[in-house]
Amino acid sequence: MEIKDLVRKNILNLKPYTSARDIYEGDKGILLDANENSWGSTFTSIDNLHLNRYPDPHQKDLRQLIENVLSIPHENLFFGVGSDEIIDLLIRVFCNPGKDKVLIPEPTYGMYKVACDINDVETIEVLLDDNFQIDLNVIRASYTENTKIFFLCSPNNPTGNLLMKQDVLQLCKEFNSIIIIDEAYIDFAIEGSFIDEIKNYPNLIVLRTFSKAWGLAGIRLGYCAANEEIINLLFKVKAPYNINSLTRYALEISLRNLELKEKYIKGIIKERERLKNLLESLPGIANVFNSDANFLLVKFNDSTDRNKKAKAVLTKLAERGIIVRDRSTQPKLKNCLRISIGNEEENDLLWDTIKKII
Ligand SMILES: Cc1ncc(COP(=O)(O)O)c(C=O)c1O
Repeated sequence: MEIKDLVRKNILNLKPYTSARDIYEGDKGILLDANENSWGSTFTSIDNLHLNRYPDPHQKDLRQLIENVLSIPHENLFFGVGSDEIIDLLIRVFCNPGKDKVLIPEPTYGMYKVACDINDVETIEVLLDDNFQIDLNVIRASYTENTKIFFLCSPNNPTGNLLMKQDVLQLCKEFNSIIIIDEAYIDFAIEGSFIDEIKNYPNLIVLRTFSKAWGLAGIRLGYCAANEEIINLLFKVKAPYNINSLTRYALEISLRNLELKEKYIKGIIKERERLKNLLESLPGIANVFNSDANFLLVKFNDSTDRNKKAKAVLTKLAERGIIVRDRSTQPKLKNCLRISIGNEEENDLLWDTIKKII
């Protein structure tokens, strides 16, 4: 498989934006090339961040920081303003608007389709099977030659399950397309990451985010791991200075708090299982799906089959100030709400409130 055959011609031919510092390899010295403020910055709370200067467009030290933690070579890493930015960039690299297609097994994270719609790229939505696993035959039947990208999510949002490894790898082998596997929630699963497979499959891209287990949704930072050819294409199309220096600084500090991250994960998993047991004991609840993520998908009993029960619980929870996510209109998710795992106090309050509502 040749990645370059999948890329839009205008992107292959694109001459990316360059700065004078690319040519002279300088970020020290007397910098009079970028119309910055040489006098200083108005942000004076933290020294040495050099916020008057543009950040490094090559993400050199960000990539080094993650190489050190994850043992993924820096050449295989790219950072985005959240993984949402990378989703958009990948569509722009590979899909010609109005011509190419993206295949999305559903139910899953809604942004894949939104990003395709924004880019005028048609989506082929296929169903996951009753265990929320990939149905290879359904995919084979729906695949068309100009399907450039598959968006997969494992653990899947909002169903919470990991996708089976052999199915995903089969897709990588069988289809001449880019296979993106979104691992936003992988830290809450004991195993199941595809990150080591990027060296075996040139068309596989693993997407990760700092918004979940790391507790850094506010700094907007995600990354992907893939073969170097794909990474270089992403560098071509991104905005020159997409990752800002405050975000980079926050990451550096947070990476020193690996133990705190592990503590959060342990606590969230423990609470997830406790809440699952509690909810399962309620007569009004038909199913609490097993989850490898930081949320639970909860199906309510409803003889009307019109999502009335789920919507009633949603509204009554909101009246009491507890916001959960309605997923009942997604395919295969009738009467389902998605509930993020909160801290112990929040979970107790949620449980107590649902018990009263039901
Ligand atoms: C599956 C999945 N991927 C990506 C994201 C977006 O992550 P980020 O905050 O890095 O943009 C989310 C956010 O909820 C998500 O559920």
